[in-house]
Amino acid sequence: MATPHIDAPRQAFAPSVLLPGDPARAAYIAERFLERPERVCAVRNMWGFTGLYRGGAVSVMGSGMGIPSALIYATELIDHYGVRRLLRIGTCGGVANGLELGDLVLALGACTDSAVNRTRFGGCDFAATASFALVEPLVTTARARGLALRVGTVFSTDLFYAADPAALARMQSMGVLGVEMEAAGLYGLAAHRGVEAAALLTVSDHLLDGRAMSPAQRESGLDDMIELALEGVCREPTS
Ligand code: HPA
Repeated sequence: MATPHIDAPRQAFAPSVLLPGDPARAAYIAERFLERPERVCAVRNMWGFTGLYRGGAVSVMGSGMGIPSALIYATELIDHYGVRRLLRIGTCGGVANGLELGDLVLALGACTDSAVNRTRFGGCDFAATASFALVEPLVTTARARGLALRVGTVFSTDLFYAADPAALARMQSMGVLGVEMEAAGLYGLAAHRGVEAAALLTVSDHLLDGRAMSPAQRESGLDDMIELALEGVCREPTS
């Protein structure tokens, strides 16, 4: 039986799902990194795949851009398909000084201009936070691999094309590392449902000085993040 947006049978997804925004990236990850990948859904071409990584089942599915799209898929994955661990992978615009293109950012917390968490939380500000059970193995594995990983706060914006010229300086003054469009909503949903979530991002452009990855860099420059994400969801946390 399917949901309105996912035409897969009930057992089609593993308990752990990577969520790239772009369904083509989901296909790339499945084909390149998973053993025996099978496509399990295709409504609106928002492809999802399940396969094996180091012998363990894992799924990867596109989530679209922005909190509303991501939460449609994430909610249906949790409520209908029993998914317990969601790891968003994607890109962010760098805000903090010292971030280089290709650096990794783990969103420990996510600020937002979206109203979704206040709507969920009776008008109060919810502390949108990643799950330590995902953060710990991601940090440990990144250190072991010598990857440049910054762990801290991101800003999940509804407006890719920002409307407030003062926003960047304000974010910098509050220690925000980067801007993306989904993490805060995903963290609110995960808390509401009692499941684990985190967001692991690659700096694809820099909002301070306009540097940006080329399309070719975006193609292969995300492989470190993808492998780290797969290791993170497939490793049991040590605490
Ligand atoms: N803004 C929002 N989301 C993004 C950006 C950005 O500058 N870069 C990559 N994802």
